[in-house]
Amino acid sequence: SKGGWSSFMAKEIADQPQAVADTLMGRLASDGSVRLSEIDGLTAEDIKNIDRIIMVACGTASYACDVAKYAIEKFARIPVQVELSHEFRYRDPIITANTLIVAVSQSGETMDTLMATRFAKEQGAKVLAICNTQGATLARESDATIYTHAGPEVAVASTKALVAQITAGYLLALFLAAGRNATEQKVLRSLGQELLKMPARVTQVLERLDDVRALGKEMANAKSVLFLGRNVGFPVAMEGALKLKELAYIHAEGFAAGELKHGPIALIEEGQPVIVIVPSPRDSDSLHPKVISNIQEIRARGAKVIAVAEDGDTDVANFAEHVIYVPSCENIFSSILTVIPLQVFALELSSAKGLDVDQPRNLAKSVTVE
Ligand code: BG6
Repeated sequence: SKGGWSSFMAKEIADQPQAVADTLMGRLASDGSVRLSEIDGLTAEDIKNIDRIIMVACGTASYACDVAKYAIEKFARIPVQVELSHEFRYRDPIITANTLIVAVSQSGETMDTLMATRFAKEQGAKVLAICNTQGATLARESDATIYTHAGPEVAVASTKALVAQITAGYLLALFLAAGRNATEQKVLRSLGQELLKMPARVTQVLERLDDVRALGKEMANAKSVLFLGRNVGFPVAMEGALKLKELAYIHAEGFAAGELKHGPIALIEEGQPVIVIVPSPRDSDSLHPKVISNIQEIRARGAKVIAVAEDGDTDVANFAEHVIYVPSCENIFSSILTVIPLQVFALELSSAKGLDVDQPRNLAKSVTVE
């Protein structure tokens, strides 16, 4: 039931601290080390032999894969390719016995993703599923499954299942990194401990959404909204745009902020709303100043900039019209926090337009045909 919420989506957004906590439960010890007993089906030898990971998914789940790619490559040093299931299946992809397929699906019944994994298995690859539904076809057909424990998700547009998938992706990255000795164990444990703090931070994000709600209502007449992000903020930008299309039927696009100057900046005109996911100023790759420059470039051309930034980032407030602050955390884990205001923004905008947020037109919760 909706339990007093105005929609299943509103309830499921509120369920997110629990979804993250339950997905971590039993898998992360208090010292920060990761145990994934469910993938015992893959031997230590199998894990050492993986020479490439191909992640397959559709829709929102594909953005969880994009986030995982950043974490797996950074910590486990295994090349990761993210593929939309339907595109992957129908070209001639290169798959070997040392390819690990990671199929991500809330329902575990999405036909495109099932077809992609069946095909990969036929080519001799091992398949690991990340799935939210006990006993789903995908889980049954995979060599191992990491269940996301988000609980049943009813709203068509995925929210808590996504943050649970992202969480599982981070766990997988730390697990593979430890198994392959690709990052110092001490560093991995401290990352694991950081991950344990995420549910409380998700709660904090949920407690300060009034501004986002007001913005959503205010912008109900927007014709188009653009989203920009870098690193893990890029898939978050893509997800923000997808949510707005799905729920509010507004034209929206997500871009990698670095790509702005290679094309999308031509779209900027007076009053164009742009939501920018700003990396942490503490990030060692110094992406923060680059994104601040992007904000200056689009502001100079009339964009109305709404930034999603980390607490304490006072710099960004000098340049953006609105700043939505989220608690600070390791930049790589920030996607779990920055995606939430975008979910709420889409929900509010959709409700302000009088639309059915749980059941958008033309969409189904799980698409069981190709
Ligand atoms: C789409 C749903 O059809 O399928 C999306 O509308 C979802 O919300 C996508 O992200 C993938 O679904 P699943 O169950 O494979 O994660």
